[in-house]
Amino acid sequence: MTNRGVGIGMKITGMGAALPEKVITNEDLTAFMDTSDEWIRERTGISQRRIGGTTSGLAIEAGQKALDESGVDPLEIELLIVATTTPDYIMPATAPAVAHELGLDCGAFDVAAVCSGFAYAITVAQGYLAQGLTKILVIGADTMERITDYTDRGTGILFANGAGAAVVEADETGEGQILGWDLGANGKYVHILYSEHDDTMVMDGKEVFRQAVKVMRQSTMKTLEMAGLTVDDVDIIVPHQANVRIVESAWKKLGFSMDKTLMVLNETGNTSAASIPLCLDRGLSQDRIKTGDNVLMLGFGAGMTWASVLLRWNGITTHTAGF
Ligand code: ACO
Repeated sequence: MTNRGVGIGMKITGMGAALPEKVITNEDLTAFMDTSDEWIRERTGISQRRIGGTTSGLAIEAGQKALDESGVDPLEIELLIVATTTPDYIMPATAPAVAHELGLDCGAFDVAAVCSGFAYAITVAQGYLAQGLTKILVIGADTMERITDYTDRGTGILFANGAGAAVVEADETGEGQILGWDLGANGKYVHILYSEHDDTMVMDGKEVFRQAVKVMRQSTMKTLEMAGLTVDDVDIIVPHQANVRIVESAWKKLGFSMDKTLMVLNETGNTSAASIPLCLDRGLSQDRIKTGDNVLMLGFGAGMTWASVLLRWNGITTHTAGF
């Protein structure tokens, strides 16, 4: 197999998370929706979610925390990638405004791959490290509230706002590196989850569930094959946080255990591109990621899109500024 960019050193040297203040519990939803706390927790694993804020505002807050932790001077950052599906404007992209507020002086663009966005963006960062950059800020930020109808019990129970950020640096030792990755998209399934301009999301939840379980398994196997590793070699799994039952169903087929899995869904709901970095942030706060661990980030979302990245960890292992 050709190299495909693996073997280039990469490490995460700072993480940051941002959630808006307003909490909506399942109980709160019952005031205007025919549902119950018990149903939502059993069928999704979600107890509460956060709304409010703007995509750029949350991205700036998370990005600042990640920069602070890394100790990297904003002027040393050579590229900003913001993964989002809910940009502040149709144009321009969100990244230039975020770069400006953070004091960066570099290229800045958005990646739109919905809930796969952060994992997609990590592979984009990897490509730029291979081209010689050494310090990149990657942020996943979404305000799904803006395209969610909170009276629709199919989608209103799931989606929310948040942001997570990572300072990604070249690792000259090569100890930290992407061992394997896979990106995918299948536009045949556009219709199962979409939002038109100035409208809210339309979702065929059952079909999204089915496809998600399928692509999570397939993508993981491709990434492990590229890495020449097996399921047992994965130390920590960071799945997109959509529904705990999706994760459990995929894990049954893959043979992964929930013990190795980072989850924040219960508190955050589905924050789209923010969910994987929020999980990483939480995992680091709980000292669950160690040097040398093989960390699998696994995203899927509307498109359908999917992405998996296996990163051998050589970045920060302690983190005090978690959410
Ligand atoms: N509260 C109470 N009852 C409900 C609710 C609710 N919120 N929603 C549906 N029901 C009812 C249904 O009406 C149905 O009742 P019936 O049997 O009398 O007809 C029953 O519960 C079962 O409904 P289902 O639709 O079969 O429920 P399901 O178990 O599939 O759960 C859900 C629905 C949670 C939406 C699930 O399908 C799901 O999570 N799908 C994946 C969605 C997802 O993850 N999307 C994001 C992808 S990532 C991205 O790109 C953004």
